Amino acid sequence: MIPKTSNSSFIYTFNYDYHHEELCKMECRQMFGAKMTNKLLFSDRKLDPSISPFIKLRLDIIASASNYTTFLSRIKEQHIELHDFKVEYLILDGDDTPKYDRREKQKDIGYCIEGRPDFENPIITYALCHYDNIWHFGSVKKENVAWHKHRQKPHSFSNSIGTIIAKTLVTMASKGVPGSKLLDACCGVGTVMLEACISGIHIDGCDINVRAYQQALKNLQYYTYTAHLYHADIKDLEQQYDAAIIDLPYNLYSITKEDIASHIITATATLSDRLIIVSIADIESVIVAAGLQVIDYCTVVKRGKSFFTRKIWVCENKFIQDNE
Ligand SMILES: C[S@@+](CC[C@H](N)C(=O)[O-])C[C@H]1O[C@@H](n2cnc3c(N)ncnc32)[C@H](O)[C@@H]1O
Repeated sequence: MIPKTSNSSFIYTFNYDYHHEELCKMECRQMFGAKMTNKLLFSDRKLDPSISPFIKLRLDIIASASNYTTFLSRIKEQHIELHDFKVEYLILDGDDTPKYDRREKQKDIGYCIEGRPDFENPIITYALCHYDNIWHFGSVKKENVAWHKHRQKPHSFSNSIGTIIAKTLVTMASKGVPGSKLLDACCGVGTVMLEACISGIHIDGCDINVRAYQQALKNLQYYTYTAHLYHADIKDLEQQYDAAIIDLPYNLYSITKEDIASHIITATATLSDRLIIVSIADIESVIVAAGLQVIDYCTVVKRGKSFFTRKIWVCENKFIQDNE
């Protein structure tokens, strides 16, 4: 599918390491209901780029045209009057405009704006880009990488999930809806919870293991995040959630036992109609037996360790699916 290039309000650009490509594409499907192509997406959905580990920026389109002269006239028609702005050139896939021409075009745009530029400390950054024979101009909202600080969380253990996967689990569970109420059913040291907290998404955590529970508490306190933690078997929780995340227990030498997986998934499915499930074992039959329908799926190979593959399922309650 070719991304929609006209009449969309926003352009999102993405970046990822090769081993996260499938994960990034699945996140995009779940968040925008659309397919990312050539590391970019045209959409009418306005989301903060910082919600995703893969979105680099959002361009809020102000003017577009296929003819460059018309393009400049359309920008002038906006009568933008302000100081301390900067104009960048976004090089999108397939754009081979030479460096000198790109610089000239940045200047052209600068002259369409009434005001004094500030290249060092701009109050607002604008950008132009050329994709599929259309010029676009707009304001830029860049990612905030504050979440990288979670890589230095005080407590971690060998089974902790990476921050990139943790962040995208939150995005896929919440579909980017800020007021979402999430559950991390097997929270371990709270890696997933930290990513929800920094995005202002409500999340409760649960772990049966006292050591994991205590370390999750300390990790949350370290970053002064407020979230409720249960030291309990997931079967004992009663609240309802918009979505739940399950990073199933395992160790590297014995795969998740099916009865444990079944116990956790069945119990969590009573608390939410939308589940994001992570496992290194193929437990799809367990998911289906729990009355869930798999609506999306991908695998993530750990870099340098091809034998260690995480499987990620997006599931919904079959009853909900059947009634839609
Ligand atoms: C793979 S670890 C989760 C790791 C976590 N995502 C992190 O990054 O720290 C799975 C966790 O599930 C917990 N667990 C196992 N059975 C459980 C149950 N019935 N209810 C709640 N937690 C359970 C384990 O104690 C373990 O901490």
